[in-house]
Amino acid sequence: MERIIIDCDPGHDDAVALAMARGLSDKIKVEAIIATYGNQSIDKTLTNTLNLAQALKYDAPVYTGSLRPLIRERVAAGYIHGENGLAGPVFPPCTRYCNGNGITTALDLVINNPGEITFVSVGPFTDLAVCIKADPRFAKSLKRIVVMGGAINRSGNVTPSAEFNVYADPEAAQIVFNSGVDVVMFGLDVTLQLTLSDEIIENVKKMPATSYTPIFLAAMECYVAACKEYVHDYPSMHDPCTIAYLADPSIFEFERRSVQVDCKSELNYGRTVAAFPNGEGNVLVGVKAYKEKFWSLFYEALSRLP
Ligand code: RIB
Ligand code: CA
Repeated sequence: MERIIIDCDPGHDDAVALAMARGLSDKIKVEAIIATYGNQSIDKTLTNTLNLAQALKYDAPVYTGSLRPLIRERVAAGYIHGENGLAGPVFPPCTRYCNGNGITTALDLVINNPGEITFVSVGPFTDLAVCIKADPRFAKSLKRIVVMGGAINRSGNVTPSAEFNVYADPEAAQIVFNSGVDVVMFGLDVTLQLTLSDEIIENVKKMPATSYTPIFLAAMECYVAACKEYVHDYPSMHDPCTIAYLADPSIFEFERRSVQVDCKSELNYGRTVAAFPNGEGNVLVGVKAYKEKFWSLFYEALSRLP
């Protein structure tokens, strides 16, 4: 059983990642969900996280993470995810509440369970970086880190050089990639291989409905429309790659690299640069996804939702 902390900024693909983790509860135990700023400000991402936790009937408590990046000004992605951060679904009144500070909770959980906890980050890496800097025991106690972020052999999606989660806090990403902890990195090189389609949406419509089905369909309708307008393509399942990996690592292929983040230049601020592949380094960089295996796991996870 993979015991995880998931740090997210819902966000349409974050919402799919949370749903998949919930559906794959035979393989993944979500110990804590931390809402961080990212796609939108934390008040909005926290509201979305609480609504999703309620809709997905999560037992895991929800916490708040960082309000802003370590150094740079905060940026958002409302042009993709909408003004409220999760355009589309209309949720019923939410009875879930925030259980407190995600940073102190993550520190306690990881340090008190050495070698047990995987930290999954699918928004800016700020919370993870703060934990790493706050207590040296944290990095030593982590089982591993799994992140969605960066781009190695392709352009970014916010600037030609930078992917959003890293661009939102490059200094935090540099801390994480150089923490010495084993990192599994799902950058755009691999996440853009898993693009949604009308066929996939139609397949979900044909499945026996769960309470999540209308949420998924309403969210994806907006996510598809925004991505068609902004990137002239269907959206990709960026964040769900982290969950799919934890349930079935064979869905992906990797190269072992060391990764640095450009925190100095203007033009390439937030670019992730990997040393040439020589089998050394603490970062497994995702390079290939087996599409059929991924989408089969996606359907399986959604079919198991309560
Ligand atoms: O670049 C994709 C990442 O940025 C995803 O985590 C998405 O949710 C947005 O936060
Ligand atoms: Ca995200």
